[in-house]
Amino acid sequence: MKALVLSGGRGTRLRPITHTRAKQLIPVANQPVLFYGLKAIAEAGIKEVGIVVGETHEEIESAVGNGKKFGLQVSYIQQAEPLGLAHAVLISKKFLGNEPFVMYLGDNLLKSGIKKFVEQFNKEKAHAGILLARVKNPSSFGVAELKGDRVKRLVEKPKKPKSDLALVGVYIFDQTIHTAVRAIKPSSRGELEITDAIQWLIDHGKKVRFSVVDGWWKDTGKVEDLLEANRMILDELEPKVLGKVDASSKIEFRVRIEKGAVVKNSRILGPAVIGAGTLIENSYIGPFTAIAENCKVKNAEIEHSIIMAESRIENISRRLSDSLVGRNTRISCSKQKPGALRLIIGDSSEVELV
Ligand code: TTP
Repeated sequence: MKALVLSGGRGTRLRPITHTRAKQLIPVANQPVLFYGLKAIAEAGIKEVGIVVGETHEEIESAVGNGKKFGLQVSYIQQAEPLGLAHAVLISKKFLGNEPFVMYLGDNLLKSGIKKFVEQFNKEKAHAGILLARVKNPSSFGVAELKGDRVKRLVEKPKKPKSDLALVGVYIFDQTIHTAVRAIKPSSRGELEITDAIQWLIDHGKKVRFSVVDGWWKDTGKVEDLLEANRMILDELEPKVLGKVDASSKIEFRVRIEKGAVVKNSRILGPAVIGAGTLIENSYIGPFTAIAENCKVKNAEIEHSIIMAESRIENISRRLSDSLVGRNTRISCSKQKPGALRLIIGDSSEVELV
């Protein structure tokens, strides 16, 4: 079995971060989202992986390389335009051949990985396997209607959902999917939809089975979901202090401090992770915070946030919370009077003072 990992797309819901960066490389607990998926694929015993890339191909290729560090053989498939998940399958035929494959959306995170799902598919000999998760608000997802052990219908964002089982961004297909993706037409949003291809399989009498995920699942396409994924991963963090913490600092609960990080006169209340080479001084870092490499945090309070590499946060008088801060960003507060907000921010940014 091979794997096809989708890492192209537009990432419009994560602008402005995605103006300059692939959304699959946004760090969750200081690790790119995509790496969790690649590890799950390797754990399921799959070796050959094709990564579908778009505009951000250089960045993805330099982060993942040939896949050796994950125990994988990775090749790249260029998608000229993000024309849909089924389009990604269409352009990957040469790589996939006639082998069954896992299709994994590069921005999805699954606590329990995909090993069980792959094993179940291999036992059942279906044409497709979909993964489902119980959700509180099925109207915001693609929802499956079931009949016995089969899938009867898939409905995108139903007004009156017939189940609370949402489609997770991991699928398994045999070669029949190649006929389906060639047969379907683009949807009203102009994309070749994978749900339409799966519905085509169902309508043509093919066996589409399902598994329900155990443990949590997150699609990190929006800021709130990224912060929640960060919270969930940090919740299981193994604490370790590899950096330097001075005597006047207090580290409580589960905290990981990477090599080369320095904590001075500060309180860190976990779960939290402080990246290599980062300085935390006269500050409070609260629960569910991931601060990446080579940042400087001085005279500041931060909680429930993701701070990306090389950023500086200094002398801020209010606690930074529920925030996603891009790379090489500077947030500071001067004591100058009269006080004012001075912002130099990119397109589609969001600043909220609460
Ligand atoms: P989506 O989150 O559905 O789409 P998107 O990345 O364009 O984001 P947005 O809706 O915010 O604009 O994509 C799921 C995953 O699949 C993600 O990792 C990007 C990838 N993808 C492709 O590789 N090719 C595509 O044509 C599409 C639509 C998505």
